[in-house]
Amino acid sequence: MGGNPIKIMSNPSLTVVNHPLIQISLTRLRDVATQPAEFRRHLRELSNLMLFEAARDLETRAIEVQTPIAKTGGVDFAREVVLVPILRAGLGMVDGLWGGLSAAHVGHIGIFRDEATAKPQPYYSKFPAYLDKAEVFLLDPMLATGQSAAEAADQLKGHGAKRIRFVSILACPPGLETFHRAHPDIPVFTAAVDLGLNENSYIVPGLGDAGDRYFGT
Ligand code: URA
Repeated sequence: MGGNPIKIMSNPSLTVVNHPLIQISLTRLRDVATQPAEFRRHLRELSNLMLFEAARDLETRAIEVQTPIAKTGGVDFAREVVLVPILRAGLGMVDGLWGGLSAAHVGHIGIFRDEATAKPQPYYSKFPAYLDKAEVFLLDPMLATGQSAAEAADQLKGHGAKRIRFVSILACPPGLETFHRAHPDIPVFTAAVDLGLNENSYIVPGLGDAGDRYFGT
């Protein structure tokens, strides 16, 4: 394990962040014996580490600062940053990304799956007004069917967002395909691509229900 982020040639917008620290935390998340407090800590740490790749091409603007010795050039964020967790489990990634993006504002999207139709049903959304000018990090630890993520990205674009990244912890081929087909312009970052989905649309081997494990429900 370990090494550089992997680009998968059939999906150039996908980056699998294969760093040993990320893979160690991911293994703790996968372990059924990991209790909610430890699960929360690892999800926070892992999300923070994912940010290094997810923010690699973030635009900066040149500024000047005065050190105690002299003036020098530096950089600052070129745009506002907005984090948008998909409720519930996406909330578990916010603290980790705030670790590197402390000024980021946070919007929310609530989506549940209608069991009868298996379609994503949005039930809540609230975004900062300036989405059109912001760098938006859409967050959900699990890219499973890809339908909720695609619906969330539709909503963000509907509110004017133009620069969106999707950051997950685990993905699987069907979810990646659905999301990529709907939003080929949105780069996806994940720590691993698992085998697929079971009959209940859980990622296999996955880590179970991320929201339940995070909140202890
Ligand atoms: N959501 C989860 O929390 N886990 C899965 O495996 C799939 C969707």
